[in-house]
Amino acid sequence: MSTRKPFVGGNWKMNTNRSTGPDLVRAVADGVLAAEGVEVCVFPPFPYLLTIRSILRDRGSSLRLGAQDCCHQRDGAYTGEVSLDMLKDCGVQAVLVGHSERRHVMGEKDELINKKLRRVLEGSIEAILCVGETLEEREAGHQDIVNARQIKTALAEIPASLVERLIIAYEPVWAIGTGKTATPQDAQEAHQHIRELVGRTYSPDVAEKLRIIYGGSVKPDNAPDLFMQPDIDGGLIGGASLKSADFVAICKAAAEAASAKRSREGE
Ligand code: 13P
Repeated sequence: MSTRKPFVGGNWKMNTNRSTGPDLVRAVADGVLAAEGVEVCVFPPFPYLLTIRSILRDRGSSLRLGAQDCCHQRDGAYTGEVSLDMLKDCGVQAVLVGHSERRHVMGEKDELINKKLRRVLEGSIEAILCVGETLEEREAGHQDIVNARQIKTALAEIPASLVERLIIAYEPVWAIGTGKTATPQDAQEAHQHIRELVGRTYSPDVAEKLRIIYGGSVKPDNAPDLFMQPDIDGGLIGGASLKSADFVAICKAAAEAASAKRSREGE
């Protein structure tokens, strides 16, 4: 467990502008210097990627740059879409795939998500595959079935060698932007089941190395308990990533949890 480096992503969604984005990223880049050993990545809207990248470069920041989506096709007549090569050209190092808002608002299906995931991983970019059940599915006790279906379909035809660039984000739909968070125990249980599934699909070693992060109303006050769970390796943060102080506090909580887990293991 101690070998997994925590990952914290700030998904800005369709927020920020030419003035607030740069202010936010500067504050975050400075603040996360205190969160050593955590991989921190921001996901600004497409039009601002280049601006944010040049700010990070000028500062020599280790903060990574991510995109919120990408097209499953390489190039061509796909009006309104953005290709992986374009994102790479803009310095993007990680891409979100299958976010619940893409699935449930834009209607993306598991098969399309599989194509996108293959495109990203085959393009040597880190992918954050988002999965999670709706409230109805959780109330019916179907969360594990839903997560397993989303993960199995997304990973179809993806060899183990590419999975080292994969992160899975468990984001229960009912917890996103609602202020309702899964309890640390519920989240841990879902993460453990996801890890077991990946172990059966690939190998125990692949599963052990895979980072599984939690998303859904993560805030500075609930982050420490979530991140202390053995199978929770960080978070994907929406609302709280727009407030630099909150986001930095969450990144520090990930650093502290990782260090506490290491000492718990007696290293
Ligand atoms: P909130 O943190 O606003 O609930 O959003 C979570 C999310 O969707 C991150 O991708």
